[in-house]
Amino acid sequence: MTVREWDPRTAPDSDFQNLLGALNAALAADLPDDPPWRDDHLREYLAETMPSERRVCWVAVDDDGVLTGLVTVLLLGGIGVLEVLVHPRVRRTGVARRLVATAARRVFAEGFSSIGAEVVGGTPAVAFFESLGFEREYVETRSVLRLSTVDWLSLGEMARGIAAGYRVEYFPGGPPDDMLEAYAMAKAELRDSDNGDLDLRPSSYDARRLRESLNVLHRRGMTPHIVLAVHERTGAVAGLTEVVVPVQRPTRADQYDTIVVQDHRGYGIDRAIKARMLFELRSAEPRLTEVQTWNAQSNVPMLKVNAELGFQPDREWCEYGADVGELVHRLENV
Ligand SMILES: CC(C)(COP(=O)(O)OP(=O)(O)OC[C@H]1O[C@@H](n2cnc3c(N)ncnc32)[C@H](O)[C@@H]1OP(=O)(O)O)[C@@H](O)C(=O)NCCC(=O)NCCS
Repeated sequence: MTVREWDPRTAPDSDFQNLLGALNAALAADLPDDPPWRDDHLREYLAETMPSERRVCWVAVDDDGVLTGLVTVLLLGGIGVLEVLVHPRVRRTGVARRLVATAARRVFAEGFSSIGAEVVGGTPAVAFFESLGFEREYVETRSVLRLSTVDWLSLGEMARGIAAGYRVEYFPGGPPDDMLEAYAMAKAELRDSDNGDLDLRPSSYDARRLRESLNVLHRRGMTPHIVLAVHERTGAVAGLTEVVVPVQRPTRADQYDTIVVQDHRGYGIDRAIKARMLFELRSAEPRLTEVQTWNAQSNVPMLKVNAELGFQPDREWCEYGADVGELVHRLENV
C-alpha cells in the first residue's frame, strides 16, 4: 500500500468510482440506514472550498493501483478538520493510521495547533480516533424525519400558528441579495451563543461571506433552501431555518441552522418556519424522503419542536480533537 497526495481537481474519473465504492461499502457496514451516495458532483464536492479555506487530500492505493482510502484535511481558522475513509475490505491493516499520520504532519508543518474530526457514535471511527489519543470534546444527537410519517394536516396548523406581525417567506437557492444583510445579522446571534463546540462547521456571519459560501455550496452540488420569519414592522429577520439537499444523496436533506432571534422568541416562529420548510421541500424536491438534523442534548426547546414534527433521535454525533504536536509525536514511526 502506498500513500500519496491527491488533487481532486485533476484526479482521473476512475479514482472517483473507487472512492464512491469505498464510501458506499463503508455506509452499508457502519450506517446501513443511511442512503448511498450517487456518482454526481463528487469531484466538485471535494475540490470546491471557500476562498479562506484549503482542502489537502491524500489517498491510499493498493498494489494494483486501486484507491482504497482517502484522508482530507480542511485548513480553516486555526484548526485542521480531518475526514478519513477506508474501504471495509482493507480495514484494520493500518491504512487510516498512515493516512492520518501523513495529514497530521502537514497540519503541523502549516503551523496549526489543533486538529479535529466529526465522528458518528457506534461506528469503528470512535475506537480509531481514541486509539490515536483524540478526545471527545462535544456531542450532539442526530435525528431523522421520514417524510412518509409526517401528519401534514397538523403540520399545516403548526405552519399557521405564528403570532400576528410576522411574515414567513421561502427562498429556494438561498436568500435574495437585498435580504443578505438582515439574514447575516440573525445568523450572528448564533455566533454570540458560544455553545462549546469546536466550530468544525463554521457559519458565515457577514453578507459578503454569506454570498460566497452560498456560491460555493451551489458549486459543490448542494441546493440550499431557506425559510425566514420577517418582523413586518422593522423588516428584521426574526427567525430562519436552512436545509441543504446534496445532489450526491438527493433522498436525504440536511437541516442546519435554525435560529430565532432572542427578542422574537415565544411567538411560535420556530415551529412555523420548520413546518413551512417541510411543505416547501415536499414540492421543490420530489426525490426527498428524509430530513436529518443535529441538536445539542441541552437544547431542550429545539428538541421538543423536532419531536413534535416527527424527528426520531438516531445517533450520537461527536466532535473529537487533539493537539497536533502530540499527535505527530505519537504517530512518529507510522
Ligand atoms: C475509522 C476508519 C477510518 C478506520 O480505518 P482502518 O484503516 O480500519 O484503521 P486502522 O487499521 O488504521 O486502525 C488503527 C487503530 O484504530 C483502532 N481501530 C480501528 N478500527 C477499530 C475497530 N473496528 N474496533 C476497535 N478498534 C479499532 C485500533 O486500535 C487500530 O489499531 P489495531 O488494528 O492495531 O488494533 C474506518 O473504519 C472507516 O473508514 N470508517 C468509515 C468512515 C469514518 O467513519 N470516518 C471517520 C470520520 S471522519
